[in-house]
Amino acid sequence: MTRRISLTQYLIEQQRQHGHIPQELRLLIEVVARACKRIAISVNKGALGDVLGTAGSENVQGEVQKKLDIIANEVLIEANEWGGHLAAMASEEMEGIYLVPNRFPQGEYLLMFDPLDGSSNIDVNVSIGTIFSVLKKPEGSKGVSEEDFLQPGSAQAAAGYCVYGPQTTLVLTVGDGVTMFTLDREQGSFVLTQENVRIPEDTKEFAINMSNMRHWDAPVKRYIDECLAGEEGPRGKNFNMRWIASMVADVHRILTRGGVFMYPWDRREPNKAGKLRLMYEANPMAFLVEQAGGAATNARERIMDLKPTKLHERVSVVLGSRNEVERVTRYHLEQAQ
Ligand code: AHG
Ligand code: MN
Ligand code: MN
Repeated sequence: MTRRISLTQYLIEQQRQHGHIPQELRLLIEVVARACKRIAISVNKGALGDVLGTAGSENVQGEVQKKLDIIANEVLIEANEWGGHLAAMASEEMEGIYLVPNRFPQGEYLLMFDPLDGSSNIDVNVSIGTIFSVLKKPEGSKGVSEEDFLQPGSAQAAAGYCVYGPQTTLVLTVGDGVTMFTLDREQGSFVLTQENVRIPEDTKEFAINMSNMRHWDAPVKRYIDECLAGEEGPRGKNFNMRWIASMVADVHRILTRGGVFMYPWDRREPNKAGKLRLMYEANPMAFLVEQAGGAATNARERIMDLKPTKLHERVSVVLGSRNEVERVTRYHLEQAQ
């Protein structure tokens, strides 16, 4: 019989053998995974659990909140606030940072999350997910402030997501490759199902919301036009397209079989750097993608080198198979010259 390794066992073994998962970080990851299990149960209940539809409120970015956005946010806070591993949390669904209440012990880590990614897919029963990113509180800083969160993605201690699809899969990096765990519902535990995830350098599949084409910048248009020209065009091969409108699901496909994902800046809202959020979406996904051998840029620079200036900062995102990301980035840099 093949040996089944649970997330708990995997983390303990990693801690013992390599020493790169400190005790507190291990606890943090386990607590996030437990919260994801609870969210998965709500997601699965759907209409039966009265979790579909809008909540009648807006978040700080002016987006209408879905019931599940709020439920998932609450589950993550409740699960994480008492364990003693965290100093504070920040979420796409909360305006300011959330300090661990005084009645609980304070830890050294900072947790950021997009509690429910792909909100437009909740009611239509398409894959959605939870994305998280972990930083360490800067040395010597007393208390916690928003400033403490404004560290580049390269400082992340861990990152991951949980995708709620036909299977519930937790994907994790602590800076030593990418590992996938599948939820076994009967056992109630995440089981290791893939180690050393690798993204092929080349691909024939791109993901972008084509309905925004008329608003794109010239280098994005050039790249996609060349893909669409297929075998007869400059790329000399046919491309396929996928757009799920849940970043987790699109990134999960890319980690599984390669591809390039783009949510670039466009002219609809020229003053915003992009749609996706640096701290809750771009940084954790960039960390995973790089750890799997892929690349992630804002079309010009490496995402994980960017120094955030505010919690809810937005960013242009190009990530996935290395050679395609480098090509898109090169087209942008050539334009700038
Ligand atoms: P969220 O549901 O957390 O607001 O994120 C949705 C994001 C991302 O998951 C997805 O790639 C993108 O928005 C889809 O945007 P469009 O509807 O503009 O295609
Ligand atoms: Mn999101
Ligand atoms: Mn969200």
